[in-house]
Amino acid sequence: MEKTLVVFYSYSGIGRRAAQLLASHHGWPLGEIHDVHRRAGFAGGLRCVLDSLLRRRPPIRYEGPEPGDFDAVVIVSPVWAYQMAGPMRTFLSENAGRLRRVAQITTMNGAGAANAVAEAARLLHAAPILTAEFLVREIEDGSGTSRLLAFGDALASASLAQPPERRAMTEADLSQPMSH
Ligand SMILES: Cc1cc2nc3c(=O)[nH]c(=O)nc-3n(C[C@H](O)[C@H](O)[C@H](O)COP(=O)(O)O)c2cc1C
Repeated sequence: MEKTLVVFYSYSGIGRRAAQLLASHHGWPLGEIHDVHRRAGFAGGLRCVLDSLLRRRPPIRYEGPEPGDFDAVVIVSPVWAYQMAGPMRTFLSENAGRLRRVAQITTMNGAGAANAVAEAARLLHAAPILTAEFLVREIEDGSGTSRLLAFGDALASASLAQPPERRAMTEADLSQPMSH
């Protein structure tokens, strides 16, 4: 059985709700990224924007199982100013060497997920194996739930079908028998 961990950073609770739903549906454990410096009020919001504009890696505290012990890690984080939220940037840069396969969920109001995926690929030196973006509204009103759970199902089969190394499959892989 492949082990999958869901790691989320959530500023206003939307990503937390998505991560909890995905994890509970599949029986996957959760890890949470916390800000070391609380982002409250106007100054907190401004810091979110500046982290994005300056591509900063704000200090974080990770609470959860060791990500390197898992075959696949689903990361869940919001878009801030058209970029990946700073705390997830910190998490990926600090853990890139430990993460085997990464799938990515981005939450947003309308735009910026593509930039977040591109940045994850740069930080990990490998593209996420599966990505999905959800509007805040889709998580709030439940209209995104079936797509979210389908994402988890697809990930479960995708990670079973891939060789353990963090690299794209090649034609050579296809001629090898799969060891499940
Ligand atoms: C400072 C800030 C900047 C944001 N910038 C964007 C943006 O560029 N594009 C977008 O679609 N949503 C943007 N949003 C909306 C967030 O992506 C949305 O609130 C978030 O996905 C909700 O997830 P969370 O509750 O887990 O933090 C922004 C939100 C904040 C607080």
